[in-house]
Amino acid sequence: MSRRYRVLVADDEEGIRFSLKLHLEDAGYAVEGVADGEAAVQALRDKDFDFCLCDLRMPRLDGLGVLRAVTGEGLRTRILFMSAHADAGTALQAIELGAVDYLAKPFETGEVLFRLQRAAEQLALSQRVGQLQQALGEQVSYAGIIARSEPMQRVFRLIGKVADYKTTVLLTGPSGTGKELVAKALHYNSVRKGRPFIAVNCGAIPENLLESELFGHVRGAFTDATRSRRGLFEEADKGTLFLDEIGELPLALQVKLLRVLQEEEIRRVGESRPTGVDVRVIAATVRNLPEEVKAGRFREDLFYRLNVLPIALPSLAERPGDIPLLVEHFVERFNRRLGTAIAGVTPAAMKHLMHHGWPGNVRELENAIERAVVMCEGPRVDVGDLPPQVVAGSDRVRMALASDELSIKKTTRLIEEELIRRALTQTGGNRTRAAELLEISHRALLYKIKDYAIEL
Ligand SMILES: Nc1ncnc2c1ncn2[C@@H]1O[C@H](COP(=O)(O)OP(=O)(O)OP(=O)(O)O)[C@@H](O)[C@H]1O
Ligand SMILES: [Mg+2]
Repeated sequence: MSRRYRVLVADDEEGIRFSLKLHLEDAGYAVEGVADGEAAVQALRDKDFDFCLCDLRMPRLDGLGVLRAVTGEGLRTRILFMSAHADAGTALQAIELGAVDYLAKPFETGEVLFRLQRAAEQLALSQRVGQLQQALGEQVSYAGIIARSEPMQRVFRLIGKVADYKTTVLLTGPSGTGKELVAKALHYNSVRKGRPFIAVNCGAIPENLLESELFGHVRGAFTDATRSRRGLFEEADKGTLFLDEIGELPLALQVKLLRVLQEEEIRRVGESRPTGVDVRVIAATVRNLPEEVKAGRFREDLFYRLNVLPIALPSLAERPGDIPLLVEHFVERFNRRLGTAIAGVTPAAMKHLMHHGWPGNVRELENAIERAVVMCEGPRVDVGDLPPQVVAGSDRVRMALASDELSIKKTTRLIEEELIRRALTQTGGNRTRAAELLEISHRALLYKIKDYAIEL
């Protein structure tokens, strides 16, 4: 413990106060005790406690009352509840109100110490992120988007500037770079935030259904239309419609969308009378739309109409400076979600995380950290906990060569797998071109990809 954490024990049973004080002080905590809820609230307001072990049933004010009284006051004290009358409902309510943990009485001192230590590690982690943020004098988080790199700081500034306008925003960038997150940030930071945010994946809905999905239909408009239905544009009225994968929108619908954007009114399928709508449209795509326009797959007029306010999200490989911050953020998030207390990653593991190419961008990093937190058995995530595609194959080859391994078969397999991975990365997953580079047949490559369980 770098400094003595201060703990408030709130319990009406003197025996419990006494025994917790004894054991916690023995373990290096500074401890004070109070015997009822109102005294607890007073103590929490007056003194800067790190943790409060709070009984649920107490005279004058119960535990939930204490929590309600101090939430919203910006107290940084983390509250752990204790109760002999543990029922799942109350425990859940306490956690929802902001308690960090829940202990069922009777408990053993070891258990209390363990839970307190876990809470302390989480506290240290979030303080580190806070310090980092302050030291750099920059905003490293905006509406749940974590980033400190210059291109992302620019994105933060843009979101702040354009959120309130109705102007169409076009989000571009490779898969997993946070386009949907930015779309939500735009909505929830705008005057429209009390109205719906509706997302639709234009690539996932069959072409013949998409028009009625977007604009609605009237009864009898087509065979299955037994009733009239509102479309997503109407559902999103006064709110935001997020048209994801806009590059997949069929040409016929591109014409109709352009008209809707220009006239701010829609026509349900089977109806000639238009209905006015007030919708802010945000579109996103992984495709290069100017190229799609050149190839005749995307209408030029719609492209210009959407591209009024383009926001391009850089790939993670272009902003490695964001990696450590994202790693801490995800470790903390999965600790909370999985009830673990991993205290970050080792420097060796961080080196691998920094050097990986992250073709799946932030989404791949998020998944890698979730897996690592689950796998991890030590206090920190180490190299062995990382997914194999992150621990570059070349390291595994080097490790094998440096070991006592003499099997030509095993070592050759490692080298072969590494070469295949590199070829696939170089060709962006194009197997025909990868097979050419590897000088093997296309069929042999497919077989080996399966054999080595290489995910594309
Ligand atoms: N800067 C970030 N900070 C925190 N989480 C992020 C960040 N960027 C992305 N994520 C997370 O990564 C995942 C992928 O993000 P998102 O779905 O927004 O990507 P996308 O660009 O829409 O990808 P796709 O094109 O594949 O749909 C989500 O779980 C999101 O929360
Ligand atoms: Mg998306």
